[in-house]
Amino acid sequence: MRSAPITFALCVALFSSSSFARDKFAEKLEEQAEKSKEYLLRNISPSDGALGSVLASPSRKDPDYYFHWTRDAALVMEAVRFWQQQSDTPENVKASLLKTLKDYVGFSRKNQNTYTLTGLGEPKFYVDGRGYFEAWGRPQNDGPALRALTLVKMAQNLIKMGETGFVKTYLYNSSLPATTVIKTDLEYVAHHWRESSFDVWEEVRGIHFYNLLVTRAALLDGATLADSLGDSGASGFYRLQAELIKKELSKFFDASKGYIVATMNRTDGINYKNSNLDMVVLLGVLHAPQQDGIFGPTDDRVLATAEQIRKTFKDIYSINQKNFPGLALGRYPEDKYDGAGISTGNPWFLANHGMAELYYRMAKGFEKEGQIKFSAKNLDFFASLDSHLASSSWVGKTLKAGQPQFKTLLQKIVGAGDSYMARTLAHMNQETGEMSEQINRESGYMQGANNLTWSYASYLTAIWAR
Ligand code: NOJ
Ligand code: NOJ
Repeated sequence: MRSAPITFALCVALFSSSSFARDKFAEKLEEQAEKSKEYLLRNISPSDGALGSVLASPSRKDPDYYFHWTRDAALVMEAVRFWQQQSDTPENVKASLLKTLKDYVGFSRKNQNTYTLTGLGEPKFYVDGRGYFEAWGRPQNDGPALRALTLVKMAQNLIKMGETGFVKTYLYNSSLPATTVIKTDLEYVAHHWRESSFDVWEEVRGIHFYNLLVTRAALLDGATLADSLGDSGASGFYRLQAELIKKELSKFFDASKGYIVATMNRTDGINYKNSNLDMVVLLGVLHAPQQDGIFGPTDDRVLATAEQIRKTFKDIYSINQKNFPGLALGRYPEDKYDGAGISTGNPWFLANHGMAELYYRMAKGFEKEGQIKFSAKNLDFFASLDSHLASSSWVGKTLKAGQPQFKTLLQKIVGAGDSYMARTLAHMNQETGEMSEQINRESGYMQGANNLTWSYASYLTAIWAR
């Protein structure tokens, strides 16, 4: 796995403004997408695991990631679902991906019915389905919300395809106690979102922006599905909870810090995350599009957070002082997890992919809105893309879709997204296209769990957003 990071010269060749270079870059991204699909599928339904289980990584030691994490699996299956529904996916591939998704439904139901220490909040299982009873940061209540989000979209597609029978038997029906996967997850998150839980990074217990955001999206999307299946009592209850969560979410923008903080009311876990600035906030925006658009990719509080994250990671990793394109981003500035133990934290592939995807979705979002309004919150973000905007006189002004600067600014947003992808290309294995979890902050070599399934899933969702 130790292949040198790509040379600076090659990077510049791949990532420069000439149209030839841009085509080459797009080609390289596409080639890597094919490899990522292949590597992602290798980690699903391993030969010693149950059908529908997802390895976080094939690594069994330093670290041992040979488990099915509810969160990782849901995010990976979201990529599988999206791929399955693309019109240019060949029919035989579609059929096999649909089988994979249905296997995942079966394995998920098995997980829900397995006795564990924290019930539905249990973060991970052995790949044969046994519960995990060692010490761990639990519960982690984002898992059931993410699983519901993926499966609601799958259910809606199955209904379109005429497979309502499968949906009602395995995914959603109104019976209580719940017998179906989505209903079980929705009932759980609808009743437990006020309780503290461990965060996505499995380190801090408290109330998290990410968890509330994914829970709210799951409840709203779930309510739509419930309505279409005639369960209007439940949909009303889910929407009411979503409304209550909305009030809580708005408290996470810290005006004195100028960004959305990750956690409030910490009660346990590590205590050195002083900034409370965390890539996970942006991942939430990507993983949980809200029906009413709040905290979407053009929200100025989201842009303010993205800009703080960019600036912070630029300074703390020495590889960001070298001449690579773009930047390498990590989880949060105080991170100490090195991929196997505690020393110093590093950039993560999925963080770079997440930032790129945010930029791509932001460009599409502004295009759809037909305007960009500059505010005190988002101006620093735009000024970092275009120095002409580095004057507070822009606050309150609006660029409209017809103006030439509007198009130029959108191009700059996409270009910045590309720089994060170019950076990813520079650090992966140059021969095989494999990606681990992390990138050493000083040398640029990969480290941590090899072939992290989430690295591939996040690569793919970024490319699809492009
Ligand atoms: C393993 C967790 O998965 C990781 O997120 C965490 O940073 C380390 N343990 C250290 O607590
Ligand atoms: C550590 C990450 O922090 C966590 O989010 C993830 O679920 C596990 N590794 C497994 O990939």
